[in-house]
Amino acid sequence: MKLTSPHMNVMVKACRKAAKTIIRDFGEIENLQVSLKGPGDFVTNCDKKVEKILIDELQKARPNYSILSEEIGKVTNDDSFKWIIDPIDGTANFLHGVPHFAISIGLEHNKEIICGIIYDPIKDEMFTAEKGNGSYLNNQRMRVSSRSKLKDCIIFTGGPKRDSTDRELALKEYSNFSLKVLVPIRKLGSAALDMAYVAAGRCDGFWQRNLNYWDIAAGIILVKEAGGFVTDFNGENEYIQNKSILVTNSKINKEMIEVLK
Ligand code: IPD
Ligand code: CA
Ligand code: CA
Repeated sequence: MKLTSPHMNVMVKACRKAAKTIIRDFGEIENLQVSLKGPGDFVTNCDKKVEKILIDELQKARPNYSILSEEIGKVTNDDSFKWIIDPIDGTANFLHGVPHFAISIGLEHNKEIICGIIYDPIKDEMFTAEKGNGSYLNNQRMRVSSRSKLKDCIIFTGGPKRDSTDRELALKEYSNFSLKVLVPIRKLGSAALDMAYVAAGRCDGFWQRNLNYWDIAAGIILVKEAGGFVTDFNGENEYIQNKSILVTNSKINKEMIEVLK
């Protein structure tokens, strides 16, 4: 049975409130797309508005917790608890009117993520996980896929970013998967949803360089609680060390590491 802690209730409430603004503003994007100015500033403002709603809600419920959020950066308080927030993950999709983006919130306790929520407001899909209590999509328990051969899988990735110094490496990794293993690769444009989809068994693995903590904090616990692995490209330390993340079901981790070499 799905157990929902007071922390998760706070996170769900904040997401639902912020989602109203996202949905309303997303409805405006189409008009702005054809205007001369384009939707750039509008989207930046939406990002900030959404972040403010989330932070206000979270702070109202837990005034002492610290925060790390994409737009405002760090708010230092009681550092044993920290909210890690990405108000809109998948901004480029949002900006272009592509309905694939999400709110992502992770809660860290003593440097470990203990709760995570990724909410896709357009599809009304809420992915949640709490340490020791499993991962859920809305009210259904999620598990990673059980495919054991990379050639039968579908793999997600993202980037490389325009200013990344690792562009060549990222492209080499992409061509290794695409040309040597012939596995289908998709770039859907939201690292948070990429991880949620691995947790849901919709995709079997995901890798990416140069991600930020807010892109993946909630995804880490979603994948782990769904029985998957979150490692670096050597299959060892978690992402935080080097900003390269490898996320897989429990069967294809080694095979993906080989291809990434
Ligand atoms: C981005 C998305 C994208 C990933 C980028 C991130 P943003 O986050 O997660 O999928 O490839 O590296 O920066 O900017 O949309 O919050
Ligand atoms: Ca992001
Ligand atoms: Ca963002």
